Amino acid sequence: MKSDISGFHKLSVKKRLKVVGEFSSLSKDDLNVLKHNSALGELANKMIENVISTTQLPLGIATNFRINNKDYLIPMAIEETSVVAAASHAAKLARPAGFTAESDEPVMIGQIQLTGIKNADLAKKKILDRKKEIMKRLENKDSILVKLGGGLKDLEIREIDSARGKMIIVHLIIDVRDAMGANAVNTYCEAIAPFLEEITGGRSVLKIISNLAVHRLVRATATWKKEVLDEALIEGMLDAAAFAGADKFRAATHNKGVMNGVDAVLIATGNDWRAVEAGAHAYATTTGEYLPLTWYEKNKRGDLVGHIELPMAVGIVGGITSIHPVAKVSLKILQVKTSRELGELAACVGLANNFAALRAMVKEGISKGHMKLHATNIAASVGAHDDEIDAVAKRLVAEGNITMNRAHEILKQMRIEMTKENIEKILHIKKRNGKNGKKKKKNK
Ligand code: MEV
Repeated sequence: MKSDISGFHKLSVKKRLKVVGEFSSLSKDDLNVLKHNSALGELANKMIENVISTTQLPLGIATNFRINNKDYLIPMAIEETSVVAAASHAAKLARPAGFTAESDEPVMIGQIQLTGIKNADLAKKKILDRKKEIMKRLENKDSILVKLGGGLKDLEIREIDSARGKMIIVHLIIDVRDAMGANAVNTYCEAIAPFLEEITGGRSVLKIISNLAVHRLVRATATWKKEVLDEALIEGMLDAAAFAGADKFRAATHNKGVMNGVDAVLIATGNDWRAVEAGAHAYATTTGEYLPLTWYEKNKRGDLVGHIELPMAVGIVGGITSIHPVAKVSLKILQVKTSRELGELAACVGLANNFAALRAMVKEGISKGHMKLHATNIAASVGAHDDEIDAVAKRLVAEGNITMNRAHEILKQMRIEMTKENIEKILHIKKRNGKNGKKKKKNK
C-alpha cells in the first residue's frame, strides 16, 4: 500500500483509523487502543489535522511548593518516573521559606527580515526616521491587547551578515500580556512588512516571532538549609553544578533535568513547550558558550542557594490553554492570575527538579531513586494489572533485577499461585457445602 492517500484529511476519524489499520495491519486490539476515548474527545479532530486518536500522559501533582509566600499544587504532565516526586521533595526541603520568583513584562520579539538592501546604513536611517509612523500604523493592530495594556512597545533595527549577504532585521517589541503571543506577534510583523519594503526598497522574506524571548525572562531562587543537606552533600552539589558550568556535555544533561520540570508544567497547562525549550537552549548560549540555566552558591550561613533564569513565553489565555479540557482544569488547580505567575511557577519547578537531580546523583546515584517507579512501569508493561503491578514491582526491587524477562516470570508464577489458591478455595467451599456444591440447609 502507498502512503499518498488522497483525501485522507477529509475522512472521518473512524475511516482514517480504518485506512491506517489496513496499511499497518493493526489487530483488533490495536484498533481498540486507538479508539479509546480521552478527555479531549471530539476536540482532538479540531485541534490538528489527520487525527486518528489521542495519546495520553500521566498528570501528577507536585506538592509542597511555596512560591512568593503562596502555596501551590502544581500539575505536571510527564511520562518519566520520579520527576513529580523529585520536584515535590525538593520543594519540601525548601520549606518553610520556599521559592522566590520574579519576571519581566510579557514582551516578545517579532522579526521582519529585509533582503536585497543596497545601502544598509541608509535603509536603517530611513526606518529610524519613520519609526513614529511605523509605530502609529501598528498602534491599534490588536485593540484587545492594547486595551489590556499590551501592544507594540518599541522597534529595533539590526544588521546581520549572512551567507547570502547583509540583511536588515527589524525587531518589533510587543507586550502580549497573558498570551504566549505567537499569533499576535506574527500578525503585527505581517502587517508592517509591506510598509518596511516601501521605505527601504528591500524585500521582506520572513515575518515571524523569535522564540529567544530575552525580554521575557523569569528568575527564581531557593535556599536549602544546611540542616536539611549535610556539608559534604552541599560541597558535592556545588562540584556537580560547577561541572555543568565548565562542560557543555554535562550542561546539556543538567539543563535537560531543568526542563523535565518546566516542560511538565507547560504540557499540563497546554503551553507550547517546544517554544520554551528552543528559547531556553538558545538563551543558554548567550555568552557564546552553552551554559547551565541554573547555578548554585553557598551563603554565609553555609546553606545552599539555587538560582534559575530563562526566557518563559507562556500563556494562560488563547491557544490550547483555553481549549484543552485538562489544561483548563490544570490552570484552575494552579489558580494563577497572569502568564507571568505561570512562568514563575514553571521556573521554580525547573529549579526544584534540577536541585533534586543533583542531590540524588551526589547522594546515592540516580538509579536508586528511579528503581521503584521503573519497576512499576516494567511490571505494567508485561501485562500486570491492578494489585499485581505493585506485587511484581516489589519483587523486582527486592531481587535487584528489574528486567522485562524477570517481570514476566514473576507474573506468570504469581498467576499460577493465584489460580492454585482459587481452586483450593473453591474445593474447600464445595467440601464445606456438600458433594453437589449447594449449601446445606440448616435444620431448624
Ligand atoms: C533525567 O531525566 C535527568 C537527569 O539526567 C538530570 C541531570 O543529570 O542533572 C538526572
